[in-house]
Amino acid sequence: MIGKIKFILYEKNYWGTGFKSRLYDRLTPESYFESMRQTVSLLSGQRDLKILDAGCGTGLLLIFLEDAFEKGCIYYGTDLLSAGLDRVKERARELGILDRVTCFQSDLSESPPLKENSIDIVITHFSIYTIFVNDKRQEALRNMYNVLRPGGLFIASCPSKNYDADQIIKESCELIRIKKGIWNAILKRLFIYPLTKRLGLNFIQYQLESGKWIAYTLEDLAGELRQVGFEVGVSKSVYAGSAHLICGHKPT
Ligand SMILES: C[S@@+](CC[C@H](N)C(=O)[O-])C[C@H]1O[C@@H](n2cnc3c(N)ncnc32)[C@H](O)[C@@H]1O
Repeated sequence: MIGKIKFILYEKNYWGTGFKSRLYDRLTPESYFESMRQTVSLLSGQRDLKILDAGCGTGLLLIFLEDAFEKGCIYYGTDLLSAGLDRVKERARELGILDRVTCFQSDLSESPPLKENSIDIVITHFSIYTIFVNDKRQEALRNMYNVLRPGGLFIASCPSKNYDADQIIKESCELIRIKKGIWNAILKRLFIYPLTKRLGLNFIQYQLESGKWIAYTLEDLAGELRQVGFEVGVSKSVYAGSAHLICGHKPT
């Protein structure tokens, strides 16, 4: 009984506590960052892009948008949780881009605080899969479609049916070894990633396996995009095979 209560509290406060304590930022596995790099690599390189990060969390994506900011981009971050948005603003201040970052606290499935057809790129990185009511998730996708300009690009990443915490840690260690050397990889494996797995990935895997959050097949994810009007474009497997990245285009 006590275990169940503890679990319910954990579930309810999972993101907010992770954001406030900064554990979310500190424990993020390298493979997740790699998924963000792959997302950003799909941007066109155009000047003055308006980018919406829908379900932005703590704004980790900002770290990878350096080129886009150099080309004058404007970033909008929306999330349910003020704890995440506070961190987005703080991060933007640290990166010296606060004047080009706007945050809104809002529910993706409700009317968005942005004009229709006003955004060039909408990114939703590991956000919609937590909206487990189908109609609400469809409404969230429809809202993203509506704010996107005709010809604009939509990029979503969501967990796959093959979500596997061990593979994510394994890939993350390998990526760290390649980028920062063997000692950094050993340190992460011994001191950081056990916590990443215990406090984060195992919980997410449980939520996916018990059907509380959505683990997608690529066909199902593409189907949800088509249902709101997107033309489905390229897709790839990311996050050590634990997620799908998929692009959608709003017809001109
Ligand atoms: C796994 S985090 C991802 C955060 C960020 N996109 C990233 O990749 O680091 C999921 C985020 O989705 C947000 N979220 C979930 N449901 C939402 C909703 N209905 N409206 C707005 N944000 C939502 C959560 O608050 C959380 O910040």
